[in-house]
Amino acid sequence: MNSVMIGFGAALPKKCISNNELPDELNTSDEWITRRTGIKQRYIASKSETTASLAVEAGREAIHDAKISPNDIDLVIVATTTGDLTFPATATLVQRDLGIKQGAAFDVSAACSGFVYALDIVDSYIKCGKFKCALVIGAETFSRVVDWNDRSTCVLFGDGAGAVVIQAQNTDLGIQYCRIRSDGEFVERLKTSGGISTTQSVGFAQMDGREVFRFAVEKFNESLKQLLADNNLSIDNVDLIIPHQANSRILEKIAEDSGISKEKVVVTVSKHANTSAASIPLALHEIKQDLITKKNVVLLSMGAGFTWGSALIRFSDGSKVSGRL
Ligand code: ACO
Repeated sequence: MNSVMIGFGAALPKKCISNNELPDELNTSDEWITRRTGIKQRYIASKSETTASLAVEAGREAIHDAKISPNDIDLVIVATTTGDLTFPATATLVQRDLGIKQGAAFDVSAACSGFVYALDIVDSYIKCGKFKCALVIGAETFSRVVDWNDRSTCVLFGDGAGAVVIQAQNTDLGIQYCRIRSDGEFVERLKTSGGISTTQSVGFAQMDGREVFRFAVEKFNESLKQLLADNNLSIDNVDLIIPHQANSRILEKIAEDSGISKEKVVVTVSKHANTSAASIPLALHEIKQDLITKKNVVLLSMGAGFTWGSALIRFSDGSKVSGRL
């Protein structure tokens, strides 16, 4: 049994803030942000928009796109670090609001790597026959966990949700490979300043930007090399790379270091900023029409922990295309 993506969805808050619209007090500029990060704008959730409400909207679209009913879903996983409530899991709120009455629902916390971690879990469950049809969502309201007085972090992030429906199918298409890793030695490099059990607050996102940049480049390169070796592929066999969208300079480095053409590295960070666990599924939704003909699509993630991961997905083998794309 293989895990095949058969539907895609996305949700962004109504309010979009361009670099030029950021508050004057931040003392930043479109020129600085664009040159250092490639970010041009970000979507920021209003009070009535939450991680769960964005996840529900993205999930609903993915279910519709897959042409299935909520009754077909037997597993809901939400990758997030900015859930609506301390408990229960945001995935259970999504399960309720989409009218899914069966199966299981839980959240995955792996920061920006959360979506790839969730794919690995789903793929393992599908391959061992435990679940047949999963709704996997990356959803964040990161604007709620940044310090809006700290220009070195707040300009980098945005809110949003991306969703995919993954179905068990007897095919050789779909997810071919997933690999997840972490190294807790680097906890201090990227973390919040508080938490439930320490400060009884969520804290603010804090990071060592240069160290995160360096580690992201290193792990993206290492993960890609490992994926190619494990699947007996060369970089020329790769049709598309969809990396976690943190910074366009990191994405340019992936192309430069791997030798893949820039056009094959998907870049959406200019439009969404860094949406953490939502960035890869938002990018998948953005290019879903292009995926139909792609044989080897590589996902790469890296986030706080540090966590990192990779996945290889086959949407077409030339003679057939996967799912209902
Ligand atoms: N506007 C204007 N100036 C700024 C801003 C801003 N928004 N932020 C920082 N600066 C200033 C600093 O104060 C500093 O000024 P100084 O030289 O007078 O002291 C100067 O710009 C340089 O600051 P650095 O932090 O050294 O800038 P750097 O070139 O490292 O770029 C950045 C910072 C963009 C954060 C970079 O390190 C980076 O992209 N790191 C990757 C981190 C990342 O993407 N994190 C996202 C979360 S992690 C993840 O998703 C994997």
